[in-house]
Amino acid sequence: MKPIIIANWKMNPLNSKEAFALAKKVANGVKGFTGKVVLCPPYIYIPQLLASKNVEIGAQDCSWQEKGPLTGEVSAKQLKALGCSYVIVGHSERRKYLAETLGMVRAKVEAALRVGLSVILCVENVRELQIIMKKMKRSKNILVVFEPSSAISTQGGKRITPENIATMVGAMKKITGRNSPVLYGGSVNATSIAAIMQKGRVQGVLVGAASLNAKEFISLIKKVA
Ligand code: PGA
Repeated sequence: MKPIIIANWKMNPLNSKEAFALAKKVANGVKGFTGKVVLCPPYIYIPQLLASKNVEIGAQDCSWQEKGPLTGEVSAKQLKALGCSYVIVGHSERRKYLAETLGMVRAKVEAALRVGLSVILCVENVRELQIIMKKMKRSKNILVVFEPSSAISTQGGKRITPENIATMVGAMKKITGRNSPVLYGGSVNATSIAAIMQKGRVQGVLVGAASLNAKEFISLIKKVA
């Protein structure tokens, strides 16, 4: 399976000029990479980044509803119509600061799958994955990301050993299927990526802080190539 490297830009950068410049540098820098690179910018930058070469574009969230009176929300159907191919769902920052429940996460996964988006499903542990996936049909369009919140760079950046990552990957694949992709997220950078990819038995990574620096992000990707 091809490696997949996903950039989670979170609420960055500050304006569309910087967003465009960052995407352009990354797109040029990853030319020739045989895996997949997905950039997930804030919603407002998506339209201008969709034409970027060598990368795919995803959103950082979607609504659980298709349309209707939900102020501030954006639906999976709207993202698909815009040209997005991926959406991050269940990120621990949304769970923590925006009170997103596992029920909401599950409904978002279903909404995204219905319209043909690939879901980047963040979970902190096996229990969460079990609850979200209960009685849900397995899908090759679900990319599970094992991302313990304590490992995120802005939340302490606790180091999880590649061996521990591999154990979790094995446990998660028991739920989603042997051939389904499981990724890792949490303080991944150009230094830690090689061991995570080789010994962590992951198919890829979700990168936050290190994806905001084009040079660092490109060098991280080159270590995977
Ligand atoms: P980090 O963020 O790489 O800065 O730890 C990852 C994430 O929150 O998805």
